[in-house]
Amino acid sequence: MTDPATRFEADLAALAFLADAGLDVIIGDTPVNRLAPPPAPEPVRPVAAGPVAATPAMPAEAGSEREAAAAAAPLAARCTSLAELRQALEGFEGLSIRETATQLVFADGNPEAKVMVVGEAPGRDEDRLGKPFVGESGKLLDRMLGAIGLDRTSVYITNTILWRPPGNRKPTPAEVDAMLPFLRRHIDLVAPKAMLLAGGSALSALFGFEARITRERGRWREYQAAHGTVPVLPLFHPAYLLRQPSLKREAWADMLAFRAKLDELGL
Ligand code: URA
Repeated sequence: MTDPATRFEADLAALAFLADAGLDVIIGDTPVNRLAPPPAPEPVRPVAAGPVAATPAMPAEAGSEREAAAAAAPLAARCTSLAELRQALEGFEGLSIRETATQLVFADGNPEAKVMVVGEAPGRDEDRLGKPFVGESGKLLDRMLGAIGLDRTSVYITNTILWRPPGNRKPTPAEVDAMLPFLRRHIDLVAPKAMLLAGGSALSALFGFEARITRERGRWREYQAAHGTVPVLPLFHPAYLLRQPSLKREAWADMLAFRAKLDELGL
């Protein structure tokens, strides 16, 4: 039998290997073989006469996220300031991603700004520091904004999802649905005059379709906020640009178009 010290060393080495491979969140105690074929569906039984059987429960997550979406709308609608919105979100327990996240990542920048940027969801650095876009993609976003004379004193930045999804996975549609009332309220409370959407998630959420950013970037849209119509420009997400630097040319063109719009609006 392996002695405890050797087993401990082996466990540590295995953990180091997993951390190197990108694992940074534990979401369960037992391993799951996600490559195994799904279990065969239960055969449909003829309904017997007698007491009505209870409806089979929905998977807990889907059910609770659906309830979360229903709870979010009245909660968000009641908020009359950013402080109230943050407080409502701090107390909002509808999404399981908050269990694996370190903290809520609410926003950064100037709440009085005329320009608002909406990204996808916090990553590891944002989760640690509690501010959006502070990692590598945030540094690139800052450089993109800087190139057209903007910075975090003249811009307000938030995300579609305000807790880090485990392992930086893409937010699920149920999570986006549950967060959407908060995002809409966030926009209403900041009342920006123009918006940049970093990546397809914010675009899909706000305009209600499955956006392909390669098709949509650089195409102006109009968002109906409580304070009026806001011109919105979707951009390649900076994280995507870091992986595909050849697309920075298009991103630069988009930033110039955004600058031209701000000039036109006198902002
Ligand atoms: N990506 C995002 O979409 N938002 C962040 O805050 C960080 C990375």
